[in-house]
Amino acid sequence: MLIAQMTDIHIGFAPGEEPEELNHSRFRATLERLYEAPNRPDMLVLSGDITDRGDLESFAKTAAVLADCPFPVWPMVGNHDSREGLLGAFPQVRADGGFVHYVLEQDGLRIVLLDTFEPGRHGGAFCAARQAWLTARLDESPGTPTLVFMHHPPVVSGIDWMDPDPNEGWVQRFGAAVEGRRNILAIHCGHLHRPLATSFRGVPLHVTPSVAPLVALNLSTVDPGRPDDRDLITTEPPTYALHRWDGLTLASHYESISDWHVLARYTARLQPMIVGMFAERE
Ligand SMILES: [Fe+2]
Ligand SMILES: [Fe+2]
Repeated sequence: MLIAQMTDIHIGFAPGEEPEELNHSRFRATLERLYEAPNRPDMLVLSGDITDRGDLESFAKTAAVLADCPFPVWPMVGNHDSREGLLGAFPQVRADGGFVHYVLEQDGLRIVLLDTFEPGRHGGAFCAARQAWLTARLDESPGTPTLVFMHHPPVVSGIDWMDPDPNEGWVQRFGAAVEGRRNILAIHCGHLHRPLATSFRGVPLHVTPSVAPLVALNLSTVDPGRPDDRDLITTEPPTYALHRWDGLTLASHYESISDWHVLARYTARLQPMIVGMFAERE
């Protein structure tokens, strides 16, 4: 099974941009690659910040771009979204106790999609109700391999202005829900607009880079009282993730959408190399 993940699309950041909003073009280019690539996913997870302002028009634009998508789309809310907008544009998802969180099961894998949104907050949120919901979902099937998607990474990346404080209540509550759950194979996030690989309470945690422009890589501390002219946002290319589950291993791949070219193909000339590599497997 292949699960594609696209995150932080931010449709509606600059709706008047001509001839087309940059974020819209980046979104379409990434989707087109997914459609044409040899790896047709079984589903597409949109892990939040689908829109920039959570307005109905931006959600409607997003849904229109996805209208011909040949595989199921599973959306999540980010801090830039609104639950009403998301639920209106994606009728395949329903609210549960006021939150947009749900579980999918396919090919022996449980996929838990969380809601870390709190209106008015840039950072994450995970209240006692959501902690109880996640704990109950994980208790339902403690032996089943499980993949967790959440918009906000509950970790310190070193990109100071984007990071939570590790002592924030929502991080602690999420930590308490996942602590010691050895069946959680990985946590995949968005929000940071940069690739990141780390772990949280012993569980591998990765961030998929954004479809919208990326956050600049600068790991020096930020003084909120003194603008230092550092780079904040860059035109690094959009990237999507492809999470491959074969029943044993969850392997996550990343591909960026830019003007790269193929330099070698599997032709008869290169066949001896390929044959040799297979022969080594014995
Ligand atoms: Fe974002
Ligand atoms: Fe975000």
